[in-house]
Amino acid sequence: MFGVSSLATVTVEEISKIANTPKMFQFYFHKDRGLNDALLERARAANFNVLALTVDTITGGNRERDLRTGFTSPPKLTLDSLMSFATHPAWAWNFLTKEKFDMPHLSGYVSQGTNLAVSVGDYFSTMLDQSMNWNDAEKLCSQWNGQFALKGIMSVEDAKRAVDIGCTGIMVSNHGGRQLDGCRSPFDQLAEICDAVGDKIDVICEGGIQRGTHVLKALSVGAKACSGGRFYLFALAAAGQAGVERVLGNMRTEIERDMKLMGVTKLDQLSRDNLRFHPSR
Ligand SMILES: Cc1cc2nc3c(=O)[nH]c(=O)nc-3n(C[C@H](O)[C@H](O)[C@H](O)COP(=O)(O)O)c2cc1C
Repeated sequence: MFGVSSLATVTVEEISKIANTPKMFQFYFHKDRGLNDALLERARAANFNVLALTVDTITGGNRERDLRTGFTSPPKLTLDSLMSFATHPAWAWNFLTKEKFDMPHLSGYVSQGTNLAVSVGDYFSTMLDQSMNWNDAEKLCSQWNGQFALKGIMSVEDAKRAVDIGCTGIMVSNHGGRQLDGCRSPFDQLAEICDAVGDKIDVICEGGIQRGTHVLKALSVGAKACSGGRFYLFALAAAGQAGVERVLGNMRTEIERDMKLMGVTKLDQLSRDNLRFHPSR
């Protein structure tokens, strides 16, 4: 399944034209309710199968490296960024000659335009609704009226509440560790969450998934699926489409090879017996 962000640089309509596999739209809950409605209806009209509401990014994490480097999307032209362009000529050439950076799902709702250089932190603090609560999530879930997940669940209590408001899935995730410093890892939370809601709702494990064995461990604990961000983004940055194809191919080969090495022929044979497992920790 392919997932795309509210902040994507490619529209859901364009994606829908080229991808007929299942698709998930990641939803950020904005202060502007008109924008929220428009995002939801666009995803529906483009035949997206799942809406995933991100609930762990009510405000941006303190991304100190971004603050130090002055990182914005698109990049600002400063002495530092010009130096960086000069030392990465292929990247700079692509940036300058390919289509302009844009966040088309937001254009029309940001008066200054979506090609403006803003930091991630600025976007979260000015655009997103920090008062989002369980009622908002429940309303959005019934407005979507289809497969609906909360992305960023890390506790049994919240997982149970997700079931109560009608979600069909949760992504056990800490946003790749990019938000709350000191947060536990999603894998460490997985067993107790699967025990509590795994028979009622699809549990997806994400964060640090890079290898076939990572997937097999998460499925052995009880996750239905895994999801990856930097797993494919690093490959994309390094080698474009060919890089992503390579990394997906590697993942498939690793999963198959590791299953053979484990003596497992079907995913439903994976269980906690595969792990030296201490549920109490
Ligand atoms: C460059 C980058 C951009 C991201 N943008 C979003 C986003 O727009 N919305 C969102 O819900 N999560 C976003 N995330 C978080 C990912 O969806 C995901 O939770 C995280 O990357 C999972 O960890 P992993 O990278 O270790 O697989 C982003 C992550 C990265 C690395």
